[in-house]
Amino acid sequence: AETGYDLWLRYQPLQNQTVLTTYRQQISGITLGGNAETMKIIGEELQHGLSAMLQKKITVTNKSSSTASLIAATGISPLLAGTEVKKLLAQTGEEGFIILSQNINGQKRIIISGNTDKAVLYGAFHFLRLIQTEQAIHNLQVVSVPKVKLRMLNHWDNMNRTVERGYAGFSLWNWHTLPGYIDPRYIDYARANASIGINGTVLTNVNANATILTKNYLEKVKALADAFRPYGIKVYLTARFSAPIEIGGLKTADPLDEKVRQWWKDKVKEIYQYVPDFGGFVVKANSEGQPGPQDYKRSHTDGANMLAEAVAPFNGIIMWRAFVYSAEKNVDRHKQAYDEFVPLDGSFNKNVMVQVKNGAIDFMPREPFHPLFGAMPKTPLMMEFQVTQEYLGQATNLVYLGPLFKECLEADTYTNGKGSTVAKVLDGSFNKAQTLTGITGVANIGNDINWCGHPFAQANWYAMGRLAWDHSLSAERIAEEWLRMTYSNHPAFLQTASKLMMESRETYVQYSNPIGLHHIMGTGHHYGPAPWVSNLNRPDWNPVYYHKADSIGIGFNRTATGSNALEQYHPEARKIWENMNTCEEKNLLWFHHVPWTFKMKSGRNLWDELCFNYYTGAEKVKTMQQAWAGLEPYVDKQRHDQVRMLLNVQYDEAIWWRNACLLYFQTFSKKPIPANYPQPDKT
Ligand code: GCU
Repeated sequence: AETGYDLWLRYQPLQNQTVLTTYRQQISGITLGGNAETMKIIGEELQHGLSAMLQKKITVTNKSSSTASLIAATGISPLLAGTEVKKLLAQTGEEGFIILSQNINGQKRIIISGNTDKAVLYGAFHFLRLIQTEQAIHNLQVVSVPKVKLRMLNHWDNMNRTVERGYAGFSLWNWHTLPGYIDPRYIDYARANASIGINGTVLTNVNANATILTKNYLEKVKALADAFRPYGIKVYLTARFSAPIEIGGLKTADPLDEKVRQWWKDKVKEIYQYVPDFGGFVVKANSEGQPGPQDYKRSHTDGANMLAEAVAPFNGIIMWRAFVYSAEKNVDRHKQAYDEFVPLDGSFNKNVMVQVKNGAIDFMPREPFHPLFGAMPKTPLMMEFQVTQEYLGQATNLVYLGPLFKECLEADTYTNGKGSTVAKVLDGSFNKAQTLTGITGVANIGNDINWCGHPFAQANWYAMGRLAWDHSLSAERIAEEWLRMTYSNHPAFLQTASKLMMESRETYVQYSNPIGLHHIMGTGHHYGPAPWVSNLNRPDWNPVYYHKADSIGIGFNRTATGSNALEQYHPEARKIWENMNTCEEKNLLWFHHVPWTFKMKSGRNLWDELCFNYYTGAEKVKTMQQAWAGLEPYVDKQRHDQVRMLLNVQYDEAIWWRNACLLYFQTFSKKPIPANYPQPDKT
């Protein structure tokens, strides 16, 4: 049965006979330049993938006399002497690749090359993708260079098999059987990541304790690092700031204390003995109760630079998170990261990145871009997306996040004039001296057979990787690629399934958090609606803090008459939001407290518009169900059934969101649900 285990690397026999016949003529075998470990992997992957898709035996050889149609080799290989390859590789750096159709000695060959074996590996996976998606290969001129250097996943692994905000079973990392047992899944995980260009993985949760830094665990970390290395993936860990106390026996973790500094230096040295190419640390400090430099009246800079100094001799980096806020400050949570970090711009060591979530609150279904993007020109900022759908229906709702990622990447910060998109802030376009660039995603991977829980959640892992490689790719294109590889190249399938994916996030927003509502989910588990909760001891965790519904209206006033979070955006950027009458409606209640009677662009008043959104959103899930039912001929039974059943669950949940939110907000608006919408049912 088709379980979904193979992700987008299914390599099914191609169904289109014309395409198949052409490929079978074009592809005979593979000549590999070298036999280092990564080269062997390239040979195996190409052989396995192509043989399966073309239903013919593809041979692999190292012999330079071979006339096999494919050559996979780095630029220095004698196999490529006399070709244009060298010239092209001048622009591809360490990780970029080329795929080139060339005549060599009168023979048509396809060259996959790059400056390193790892680059060739990326090229090999891209070539397989071309075949999987049935693209023409007779005249290939592909030059592909990643737009950011660090393309990572953050695993929120708690070291006890659980994953914080993980909805796909237990953690992949089985610390108990490591280092002795290398689960074949670790290898398949690495393959999947390499296929989309992910080159780093943070093994542990941002809230994890310091145990990971002890000897026994470092041996386990080493085993994983060794398994991932041939796939171009570096391992990173989270560093609990109080580790010197917890596992080092010191009395303090004060970053300016000499003993503490030395402890970290020694610890880092020890780590590099196990993992010579260890990537560095991610740190969550002074946030949500985690220890940090502020416990000692020191700054984020003091904390980050202390660690940066320890890893610098080994080329390691520190990713210091900007996700900080505290209830005591009594300031709109939206503003706190900016307030704390902007004054520190320029104060961090060269090997520090500040890791910023896409929005200022917390991975909401829709969030305006984080005001820190563009506001720290002297500090490399790393994007932190959330791939796991903590606030987007977790593993039961079909929500394709491509459009969410893109919405943020393409948002205009106006820092350097019009067109200063978040993506350009990330990729270093505005700062030629910037050497560190990166995008990371909080992983949605667990030990479920299909890795991600919902079959379509795999698309979010895929999209995150593809966008980290090239943020200019469209969400549509990525969805289509993924669908072709994961399900079918059939045009009728693609048309419907791609629409289903592309509309899914907006639909989720509509039935859960429309018009800029946010943080009204069930507290603790973050699943389903609970806008009424007001009794948590941290006021900034209460949904009522965010929607502020009252008899006049609903929404959070973040203009100058309110919290003035708007002030943190560039004056040009804030224009689309600052005036209630012209504010982009999708973010209206994010920035304004709006009267129930306010007239929306549709002509409806705000209350009716809210009803309209909740009702249409829920109805759209029905449309998704119908669309999926029509795709039965193209999808294997097991995965079709799974998505079908989950869409039933999703429909129930959409109705739950709709009824719960409207019935609750109605106690403030005191207005009826418009007669032309069905009344909330009592079930
Ligand atoms: C969210 C999430 C937490 C997580 C935190 C973080 O608040 O609910 O589980 O620890 O983000 O990113 O640090």
